Amino acid sequence: MSEGPSPPLSSPPPLLLGRGQAPGKAILLGEHAVVYGRPALAMPAPGRGTQVELYALLSGGPVEWDLETPLDSPPHRRRELDAALADVHAALGVPPRPLRVRVRSDLPPAAGMGSSAALAVALARAVADAAALPLSREEASRVAFETERRFHGRASGIDNTTAAWGIPLAFRPGAPPEPLVVRGTFRFLWVHSGVTSSTRDAVAAVAALRDRDPGGTEALFDEIAATVASGRAAIARGDAPSLAAALTSNQAHLRRLGVSHPAIEAVITRALAWGAPAAKLTGAGRGGMVLVLAPDDPEPLRRAFPGAVEGVLG
Ligand code: MEV
Repeated sequence: MSEGPSPPLSSPPPLLLGRGQAPGKAILLGEHAVVYGRPALAMPAPGRGTQVELYALLSGGPVEWDLETPLDSPPHRRRELDAALADVHAALGVPPRPLRVRVRSDLPPAAGMGSSAALAVALARAVADAAALPLSREEASRVAFETERRFHGRASGIDNTTAAWGIPLAFRPGAPPEPLVVRGTFRFLWVHSGVTSSTRDAVAAVAALRDRDPGGTEALFDEIAATVASGRAAIARGDAPSLAAALTSNQAHLRRLGVSHPAIEAVITRALAWGAPAAKLTGAGRGGMVLVLAPDDPEPLRRAFPGAVEGVLG
């Protein structure tokens, strides 16, 4: 039997150099005021996050991005992604090399769930993994903070801290995060308002308000801080009615800061009509997700918001 030509060699599998992942975040209380030094509470987004894998790139380069929608949309434009990766290499002292970067995420972008912070922490972890560098939560958070500032301009650090720590926490800029003490369980639904929004623009709008009325805005931040303290105490006591009161009051503050939106208010009205004790915007606002505290029987709410993300604190 004559031998035919040998089959073409198949291309070798891509060489995986490192991988990293991080959850998104959900702010419970205190967004915006936290940028001005007040405390805020946050938890990881339930079961949602971002995974990064780095592969050796044998030709081309310097970097190829393998993204899937919805990540491939603002603020994750190619230029910003390149800059974020360069920031991470520089912060970790790792020389850049040609890479294929595979990113997968189930976090909705521009919706207040910390997709950019999750990406930054996952990138830092993947680059550290590829360089066989140990990376603590504190370091991962610090590296990601630089990227956060690039994406959002002014940032408190709560998003990268929650993505890096992956636990419910109380955060105050400049202080180590404190794990949140939770008694019992609190069930939440995250409902998309249907409107995307830019954290950078929302933070800039609050800064403009503060420039126009420094005294009034700082006083409002102090009211928010008091509400965050009462919400934190309610969570520690397992006191759902007091937490509901804190969420409702915080939403009123956020309206006064100008970061609510008719689409957010429509979700809140509907959630309350379906039995939710409270609902508020979460994250930067002006669109994005609404955080809904679920009642003891969440079934009617689930039916009212079939696409909602559900999660439990505690
Ligand atoms: C964004 O998730 C939360 C803001 O308070 C901004 C920040 O803290 O960096 C709006």
